Amino acid sequence: MLSGQATTERVQHARAQDAPDLFDCAWLTTQTDGEIAAVIVAGIQGTRMVGFGENFPEGPRDHARLIAYLRATAACEAELPAGA
Ligand code: HEM
Repeated sequence: MLSGQATTERVQHARAQDAPDLFDCAWLTTQTDGEIAAVIVAGIQGTRMVGFGENFPEGPRDHARLIAYLRATAACEAELPAGA
C-alpha cells in the first residue's frame, strides 16, 4: 500500500502537518476496502494514526460504512453515472 510517488507525497504531507486527505479520488481508486479497513483497525505504527481496533460498536459493519462514506463523499468523476 505505501509505495510509489503519489503515496510518498501523501505521507510526506501527513508527516509534515496533518492527516492525509481521505477524500482524494486518485488515492481512493488505488485502495481496496480491505486495505483501508486494515489501516482503520491497526493504524500506522509510529504515526498519529492509531489503530481504532475494536472501538467501533458494530466492528466491520462500521468500517464498511465509513469506507462507503469516504467513497460516496469523494464523488470521483470517473465513478459517477454519465450525465451526473
Ligand atoms: C475514523 C477516522 C479515521 C480514519 C477512517 C482514518 C483513516 C486513515 C487511513 C486510511 C490512512 C492511510 C492514508 C494513506 O495511505 O495515504 C490514515 C493515515 C493517517 N491518519 Fe488516519 N484515520 C482516521 C482518524 C485519524 C485521526 C483522529 C488522526 C489524528 C489524531 C489521524 C491521523 C493520521 C495520520 C497522521 C496519518 C498518516 C500516517 C503516516 O504518516 O503514514 N487519523 N488514516
